[in-house]
Amino acid sequence: MDIRGKTALITGASAGIGAEFARRLAAQGANLVLVARRTDRLDALAAELTGVHVDVVPLDLSQPGAGRTLREQVPQPVHLLVNNAGFGNYGPLLDEDPDKLDAMIQVNVTALTDISRAFLPGMVEAGEGTLLNIASIAAYSPTPSMPVYGATKAYVLNFTEALAYQLRNTPIRVLVYSPGATETEFFDVVGTRDAGGGNWQTPAQVVTGALRALDGRAPSAVAGVPNRIAVSVARLLPRRWAVNLGGRLTYN
Ligand SMILES: NC(=O)c1ccc[n+]([C@@H]2O[C@H](COP(=O)([O-])OP(=O)(O)OC[C@H]3O[C@@H](n4cnc5c(N)ncnc54)[C@H](OP(=O)(O)O)[C@@H]3O)[C@@H](O)[C@H]2O)c1
Repeated sequence: MDIRGKTALITGASAGIGAEFARRLAAQGANLVLVARRTDRLDALAAELTGVHVDVVPLDLSQPGAGRTLREQVPQPVHLLVNNAGFGNYGPLLDEDPDKLDAMIQVNVTALTDISRAFLPGMVEAGEGTLLNIASIAAYSPTPSMPVYGATKAYVLNFTEALAYQLRNTPIRVLVYSPGATETEFFDVVGTRDAGGGNWQTPAQVVTGALRALDGRAPSAVAGVPNRIAVSVARLLPRRWAVNLGGRLTYN
């Protein structure tokens, strides 16, 4: 993908995988639009990225209408949209704060959908563009340790693969990329590393894999060989066994 001189919009760019995408795409000469809530983080990242134009858009994606709000604030053409913002939970649903669950579905599902809907028409009109949605290996089978989070990521996987089919005869590249456990602030937000399993990657490894996958044609890809094996095993097992195995490994 040649992104030099073009614009990439990254949600969740204030930390982890999103910040790494920003650094790597800036190194490839992309101008950037960085979206998240923590403006101080975004400003510090923008100051670090020299030689390209960087716009910082502070936005809480748990609020409704994220796509339209962003579209209004980003009138320039966006060539690469990275829907990366997201967060998870861990533990019994009955102990969860309902407002937090609401916000998780809003950020991981509703905002991702709304932002895709808002920016894809401009790409189709321009005759070029790339949509990269970040899911998770949790998307590939029910996750007893993170039931809502896993379900939101299953949505991202299914939504994006279906969208890739709808757009297959256009020049728009659509990819859903699924990391496994990655060394970011994700598990600080979750509150435990128990749900991470054993195959940890760095954000740099995840972003390298995602950018490589974008050069291919598959609508979906999984980060790292151990995660690809885990996902394949989960798919081969009878569904109930896959749920039980996931529960035993990461819950209790
Ligand atoms: N780390 C993992 O093990 C792992 C595994 C599989 C998939 N993923 C996925 O990878 C993506 C990136 O996560 P990460 O690992 O880089 O985690 P992270 O370090 O915690 O970063 C999450 C990013 O999402 C943003 N975000 C969260 N809530 C938001 C909101 N309401 N409005 C706007 N932005 C919001 C955060 O920005 P602010 O807090 O500044 O708003 C931050 O920039 C997520 O979609 C996650 O589900 C991560």
